[in-house]
Amino acid sequence: MLRFPDSFTWGVATASYQIEGAVGEDGRGPSIWDTFSYTRGKVLNGDTGDVACDHYHRWEDDIALMSNLGIGGYRFSIAWPRIVPAGRGAPNPAGLDFYDRLVDGLLEAGITPFPTLYHWDLPQALDDEGGWLSRDTAEAFADYSGVVVGRLGDRVKTWLTLNEPWVSSHLGYGKGEHAPGHANWSEVWPVTHHLLLAHGLAVQQIREVAPDADVGIVLNLEPQYPASEHPADIEATRLADGYWNRWFLDPLAGRGYPEDAVADSGWNQAEVQPGDLSVIAEPCDLLGVNFYSRKIIVGADLVGEERPGTPPEPEELTEMGWEVYPEGLYDILMKVKREYDFETIYITENGAAYPDELVDGRVEDDNRISYLQRHFAQLHRAIEEGVDVRGYFLWSLMDNFEWAYGYSKRFGLTYVDYPTQQRTVKKSGEWYSTVIAANGLPSA
Ligand code: FCB
Repeated sequence: MLRFPDSFTWGVATASYQIEGAVGEDGRGPSIWDTFSYTRGKVLNGDTGDVACDHYHRWEDDIALMSNLGIGGYRFSIAWPRIVPAGRGAPNPAGLDFYDRLVDGLLEAGITPFPTLYHWDLPQALDDEGGWLSRDTAEAFADYSGVVVGRLGDRVKTWLTLNEPWVSSHLGYGKGEHAPGHANWSEVWPVTHHLLLAHGLAVQQIREVAPDADVGIVLNLEPQYPASEHPADIEATRLADGYWNRWFLDPLAGRGYPEDAVADSGWNQAEVQPGDLSVIAEPCDLLGVNFYSRKIIVGADLVGEERPGTPPEPEELTEMGWEVYPEGLYDILMKVKREYDFETIYITENGAAYPDELVDGRVEDDNRISYLQRHFAQLHRAIEEGVDVRGYFLWSLMDNFEWAYGYSKRFGLTYVDYPTQQRTVKKSGEWYSTVIAANGLPSA
């Protein structure tokens, strides 16, 4: 039996735009994901978050669902456009009321709320003024955060600021695969800076409003491995790690942006104003780590030379095409522990999409159980070796709107039949509840 620490939090995660629906209700303003999903060709099958899992109306049932599974913590996100529909200015009481009821309902069910303040649904009004290219958006985020924490901070004890700023800047502004759909690589660096600044300003704001709360950010970290021992591969791996991991971890840890990757990017840091780096490095209480896969990095073509050894080939992929590599979770946690001094870590997301089918009222997703089992074993190994991981949030409570893939990818522990909104707990959900009940898993 691999037992987890006594107070370990076993949770599930979701995000507002991916589950709520009700995009036009109770004064919610439009977000960049409404605009993006209404733009032809941006989201597979023309799917939108208009209805999603209809969680805005079914939240009580969804809490009951979690409660039946024995879930101890719920990581959800708060939709900025519900709270401040125009991005800045007057808050919308009905939006605050919704999360107020949700938090009360969770607490009544004995589930600890772990809200994220920004999971990509920027108010469209702010995008009209430049979105994350504009420094003012960072200030607006801090103000909005203060409003939310002012209302819920008497009951919510842990706050997460941003979800995966890497994805916001790289996919939203560099590649155009996510809202707002810009495909301009030079925008990635200013946008990243404004996001990190927004995080720091929000931390300051939260400290003022709720001095006792714990605060942190959520990063999608990914371990990178060289394709071989050749210096070209090793050098390229160092740089890839700089772009993916250190670009975020270093400034948060007070070291500024990583010089090697910044030099390689050509960014002149014009947006970095005096004092910004210390705002970004505002001390936090925890780091949220989202883990899905790893990367094998191949350096330049080795002209006239053989690459020593054969680069490892992925042996197993999820339906997203992401390699299943559970040791990567252990490796990235050990790297964070070795190289940084973030005190407490939560795994804020981990999970897998598989082509689940509902047959005779059952979803037999043994592949997901196998995926989870192996990740839990690696997580346990890291904890045994001294990484202070306090909780794990499985992505996701239920199938939902998977961004540019629409409803085609199913990550849930619960199957959602979208036409009827019927939820069916998958075999993996039943399995997860036995892990939670035992606070661990039988050793393989
Ligand atoms: C993460 C996102 C989350 C979900 C999973 C599959 O990058 O934070 O919303 O889409 O991937």
